[in-house]
Amino acid sequence: MTDASAIRGARPDTGARSYGILIVDDEPAILESLELTLGSDYRVHTAESGEAGLAILEREKIALIISDQVLPSMSGVEFLEKAIEAAPHAIRMMLTGYADIGSMSRAINEGRIYRFITKPWEPEEVRLNVRRALEAFELATENTQLTAALADANERLRAENLFLRREVERRYGFDKIIATSRAMDRVFDVMEKVSETDATVLIVGETGTGKDLVARAIHYSGRRKDARFVAQNCAALPDTLLESELFGHMRGAFTGAHADKKGLFEVADRGTIFLDEVAEMHPGMQVRLLRVLQDGEIRPLGSSETRTADVRVIAATNRDLRKDVEEGRFREDLYYRLRVVEIDLPPLRERKTDIPLLAHHFLDIANGKMGRKIQGFTNAAIDRLVAHEWSGNVRELENEIERTVALAGNESAISVDMLSEHIRGATPAMNVSPEAFAGDIALSEAVDALKRNMILSALAETGSKTRAAERLGIPRQSLQKMMKRLALNDS
Ligand SMILES: Nc1ncnc2c1ncn2[C@@H]1O[C@H](COP(=O)(O)OP(=O)(O)OP(=O)(O)O)[C@@H](O)[C@H]1O
Ligand SMILES: [Mg+2]
Repeated sequence: MTDASAIRGARPDTGARSYGILIVDDEPAILESLELTLGSDYRVHTAESGEAGLAILEREKIALIISDQVLPSMSGVEFLEKAIEAAPHAIRMMLTGYADIGSMSRAINEGRIYRFITKPWEPEEVRLNVRRALEAFELATENTQLTAALADANERLRAENLFLRREVERRYGFDKIIATSRAMDRVFDVMEKVSETDATVLIVGETGTGKDLVARAIHYSGRRKDARFVAQNCAALPDTLLESELFGHMRGAFTGAHADKKGLFEVADRGTIFLDEVAEMHPGMQVRLLRVLQDGEIRPLGSSETRTADVRVIAATNRDLRKDVEEGRFREDLYYRLRVVEIDLPPLRERKTDIPLLAHHFLDIANGKMGRKIQGFTNAAIDRLVAHEWSGNVRELENEIERTVALAGNESAISVDMLSEHIRGATPAMNVSPEAFAGDIALSEAVDALKRNMILSALAETGSKTRAAERLGIPRQSLQKMMKRLALNDS
């Protein structure tokens, strides 16, 4: 529908003059008199036979057809039936010399004739009937136009939806995982193989190595991609809540359960559930999860009935799960159920060839986000990035690039001095050699400098004071005190 008025939902042009009326009668006197009655308000076309009338319908836009009942070669009913094909939306009226409604009832009943006009007629009555008929035509036309506009809009929405879905698939598909290293080639190989199966997958890797990304890529590239991908962090909730989150609960199952609630296993039906930090699951939950994996049945809290769910399970952990099994923290039977296929994501320091590629990838993203146009890195800067240990893995690299771009001025490339201090130096902390302090610097100052340096790098790498303190081997409170004394603020 190209007519803009249809899209805006406005009424079509109601200028009476624009409507075409076709009158078919074999008596010229009747044609003349009707033309006189209607000619000043409408475009009137006349024909003396059904054939001539059909020819006009081919050429002209006709809104209303008035036909005599008795015509020379084909009857008026026959003509109007044919006219339906040529002008399906035109309103049809029949002229009849005697009030022989009986003979026309078939046509009227089938809705083919809007009304009939008996001869002789009152001009005023004909005008009124024509005006009403055209109003009906107008509404019908408007209706079709709106329907077409709606269909159009629907089509656009559908296309948009499809586009968005592709976008999501692209966002989480394999091609969002940037890598070139041999180690990651092996990961891709396994991912490709498992994505078309329903096998349970255990993804193992240090924090920030891309476990989340890999889980989504497996879902969005397999046959379950049209159903949902739901993720649950198993460390985030106490036992009962986690159980209710995963398996659902019935109203009143526990204090605070005010209504029935569907669990994620049901929400993800025919899709994928991602159990993140699965090692943190308490023993009781481990048993319940094992049962679900064994017989595919879930039982909401407080319910006596079980339900089945067709869900693919992907689990992830940054712990050494085998060690947890050996030390009795994780059930061995569950461990084997989960690691039908295991994907080991190597830490970034073991795939350093990925670093330049990832750095450029994150630079593009940061440029886009912050409206910058930084072209790349100096060789020395790339060398520093490659040399760094990245204990926070890809996430730490991502944060570093984002930070650098945010703090950059109008440089065209990222150079070493724009990088964070702990990345700029050689192996962090250890670069504070005695020679670096040659000259008359007090021992306490040198020690402070060393402390400052170590604290900053521990903070940058772990991202939290608790973990930084752990890494430095001191209590958190001591770290806080030390930071205060060294004038290191929290940010
Ligand atoms: N190969 C990669 N290519 C592009 N981006 C990556 C890659 N690996 C990780 N990332 C990005 O790094 C960040 C961390 O990745 P992700 O959240 O998947 O790690 P994780 O292993 O789940 O970490 P955690 O154990 O802390 O949950 C995300 O922003 C992710 O998009
Ligand atoms: Mg994660």
